[in-house]
Amino acid sequence: MNYKRVIFISIIVTASLYSYKVYTDGTENSNGLLTNEKAKAGKLLWQEYNCIACHQLYGLGGYMGPDLTNEIGLKGKVYASAFISMGTSRMPNFKLKKDEVDDLVEYLACVNKSGEYPLKNPGITPWGDITISNAIRP
Ligand code: HEC
Repeated sequence: MNYKRVIFISIIVTASLYSYKVYTDGTENSNGLLTNEKAKAGKLLWQEYNCIACHQLYGLGGYMGPDLTNEIGLKGKVYASAFISMGTSRMPNFKLKKDEVDDLVEYLACVNKSGEYPLKNPGITPWGDITISNAIRP
């Protein structure tokens, strides 16, 4: 077997192993987020009512309202529920049922646990990874 064939076969084998790893373990929801049914329902409501049109998660979204990544950690569930159920002069009142408000708050609680934005003291390891401090917990 000539060396070109050896290189060719090793590239194919490595690419297959890498793809297998990325598309199985890599896409698994291993951090336990969004395993809760209420939070999943909340995520659908978040999409249905297009909250991201005015709010950001991790800095991405519309800029009319504030970033809600750590809303629950910083201000708590009661505060968030009040805003979501009542609206304000600038935020619409979506006339949601109490359950729906709870689901949205549960979703925002999961987002809060997923990390912190903006990062206050990001560290950098010698091999270039960013180390993230713990999420702001309620
Ligand atoms: C039309 C734009 C708009 C949409 C759509 C919108 N919001 Fe808001 N939201 C705002 C604005 C503006 C504020 C700030 C309100 C104020 O201070 O009067 C706000 C405030 C909030 C707050 C309180 C933030 C804080 O820390 O004071 C929460 C929680 C919230 N919105 C959740 C949601 C959720 C959940 C949805 C989707 C169901 C949503 N918003 C959709 C504009 C919007």
